Amino acid sequence: MFITSLYNLKGGVGKTASCVNFAHMAARDGYKVLLWDLDPQGAASFYYNAQPKEKVTAKKIIEHTLDLEEAIMATPYEGLDIIPADLSARKLDLLLDDKSSKKQIRNLLKTVADTYDFVFIDCPPGFSSLADNIFFASDAVLMPVIPTTLSIRTYEIVKHYFEEKGDVEKLMCFFTMVDIRKNMHKDVMLQLHKDKRFFEYYIPYLSDVEKMGVHHAPLEAFAPSSYAATCYRALWNEIKEGVLE
Ligand SMILES: Nc1ncnc2c1ncn2[C@@H]1O[C@H](COP(=O)(O)OP(=O)(O)O)[C@@H](O)[C@H]1O
Ligand SMILES: [Mg+2]
Repeated sequence: MFITSLYNLKGGVGKTASCVNFAHMAARDGYKVLLWDLDPQGAASFYYNAQPKEKVTAKKIIEHTLDLEEAIMATPYEGLDIIPADLSARKLDLLLDDKSSKKQIRNLLKTVADTYDFVFIDCPPGFSSLADNIFFASDAVLMPVIPTTLSIRTYEIVKHYFEEKGDVEKLMCFFTMVDIRKNMHKDVMLQLHKDKRFFEYYIPYLSDVEKMGVHHAPLEAFAPSSYAATCYRALWNEIKEGVLE
């Protein structure tokens, strides 16, 4: 089982859009996939029209009063299951405070290691005990970056954080919402690509990505031949090769 999380210190950078598409693409590739929506805003759950079953909360899973397996739901897509978000995820930080183990999420996911090939975790933004738990659990932390000057700073902060933990090899990045006509985007991409932590393929700013919210579906489900789906597919193939090598 390979655990990957979509993370950035910043919000609104394409974490959820990417998580929703990568999970669906991996399932279409024939893998057994679980998407765990750990952002209390529940945007990934929204895209999959998934609401948690009654009395199922992330809090109970973390407290071991409910088995992780009981929270898992099927999606309309073969091979893709989801644990939808619920508002209790707001308070997970208190349950996973600095004194408690960093291993809790990893240990919980071990219980489904025989069932799934890939787990995708959609993260809320920011540094937190929840984020630390997710980082520890993850084999790869995928960070979408919009190529602006300010993003360079955010990227450096996150990279430094991983370096201090001795975990920087886990951090892998890609560009999203790229407007290649903007010199600033081009310059930032050139600069950051030197770091070798960024994938070559990137996601342009495309309205079809926004339309995922209208269709409640991933790109390859409602617009399989669109340019947006092609870009996400190329990036996913590159990531897959990178992480499974
Ligand atoms: N490549 C893209 N092109 C255009 N809009 C995008 C793109 N990626 C994401 N968006 C839109 O930007 C907003 C934020 O994206 P989202 O994936 O929810 O970010 P995050 O999870 O990092 O907060 C959403 O409305 C989404 O539809
Ligand atoms: Mg999100």
